[in-house]
Amino acid sequence: MSVFRGTLVDTPSPGELRIRRDHVISVDTHGVITHLSPASSTPSDLVAQAIPLTERGFLLPTFADLHLHAPQYLNAGIGLDLPLMEWLDEYTYVAEERVDADPELARRLYARLVERLIEAGTGCVVAFGTIGVQANLILAQAFQDAGVRGFIGKLSMDQCPRPTYGEPSTAASLASVTEFLDRMDSLTGPLPPHQRVVAPILTPRFVPTCSDELLRGLAALAKARGVKVQSHMCESRDQMAWVEGTRGKADEVVFDEAGLLTEDTVQAHVTSFPPALVELVKTRGVTVAHCPLSNAYFSDAAFPLREAIDAGVKVGLGSDIAGGYALPIQTAMRQAVVVGRMREGARREAGGEQPHDGRGLKVDWVESLYLATRGGHAALGLGGAFEVGLPFDAQEITLVRGTRAVGQLDIFDLADTDKWWTEAVERWWCNGDHQNRTGMWVQGKRLLKQSA
Ligand code: GUN
Ligand code: FE
Repeated sequence: MSVFRGTLVDTPSPGELRIRRDHVISVDTHGVITHLSPASSTPSDLVAQAIPLTERGFLLPTFADLHLHAPQYLNAGIGLDLPLMEWLDEYTYVAEERVDADPELARRLYARLVERLIEAGTGCVVAFGTIGVQANLILAQAFQDAGVRGFIGKLSMDQCPRPTYGEPSTAASLASVTEFLDRMDSLTGPLPPHQRVVAPILTPRFVPTCSDELLRGLAALAKARGVKVQSHMCESRDQMAWVEGTRGKADEVVFDEAGLLTEDTVQAHVTSFPPALVELVKTRGVTVAHCPLSNAYFSDAAFPLREAIDAGVKVGLGSDIAGGYALPIQTAMRQAVVVGRMREGARREAGGEQPHDGRGLKVDWVESLYLATRGGHAALGLGGAFEVGLPFDAQEITLVRGTRAVGQLDIFDLADTDKWWTEAVERWWCNGDHQNRTGMWVQGKRLLKQSA
């Protein structure tokens, strides 16, 4: 058992910032939170065992990245001036093909990726991999070894964008993903359940690379094997036009007819999100991975986040490496707020009523923190908040050491009031970075050494 004493910050619901100062939290040997109370009302034997956390800082749930292409970390930040379908052809498939062809490169790339994720406070990733089974197993092993939660998506694509990168037939595609599921079972099977941090996720890349037969086959496999599904839906104008032109249907219709819109599905983007689609996504219980930075480059439109939150759609944030060039979910949080501000500005310019209880189309920083922590984790059936019974997935943020603020922060007044703490957390939200991150745990296991 581990016991900690300090300040806990979390967001149990979208607009609620909870700051619990001087609390004691205990975690059992399976990494589950078993006790949580103010130090003043905690049994003295528990207080005596407690390890003090950073004094001018707090514990925050880890971030969940609901959409990241692991092999594309190889080419993050390249070629972003092209439209989506051209960028995929020129850069993305090429990078993925290289990773599949070179296990040593895959090992180096994925080891570095998980190192960076821990540095950025990301404790859970819903990842797209490549087509090849071997490279995806290397990816899964990298996450498992590092202790970072990973839903590992071997890509399914039976309609090939390049002669050299794709699967030769629907049957071959389904056989390959079945082999991947079996080998993931072998990878995690010997471990006790609480130590299994990786799981497979079925990953039809997007409609243009998948036949209807493959999509139906994957839906059946998801049901039979109890695995989640991820894809891209309604991402950009050129992509949606491609689907309309080749299938004569909209993206969401293709997915829905195949049985792939369920509560175990995560769909990236959905930037074209009219009210009827909001209703469908909500009714089916689909989670949206909102990737604001990637949307700015590739989507021709802003995701209607305010409307999605207010409608009760499950939403989390994604980096979309490499459609988005930045790995930290802190960047996605800030971008989500910026996009909301711009949408509201444009709405006001256009005139009309103030929608959404007078808040307009803005999304505030606390809501974005919710999406990055509780929103993303809850959509996956995980934690993302500090409550008894939830897994202890936490990052320790240090704001001030002695009298000097850490990293990019400068704080000149030190008080111990609610107001000081609320403002300090907001300052960190705006200007904090990896230098403030002095600890990281997933399922109770410490990942990052406390810095001196
Ligand atoms: N749609 C299909 N594949 C991709 C990809 O790799 N990145 C993005 N952003 N969109 C996609
Ligand atoms: Fe993507």
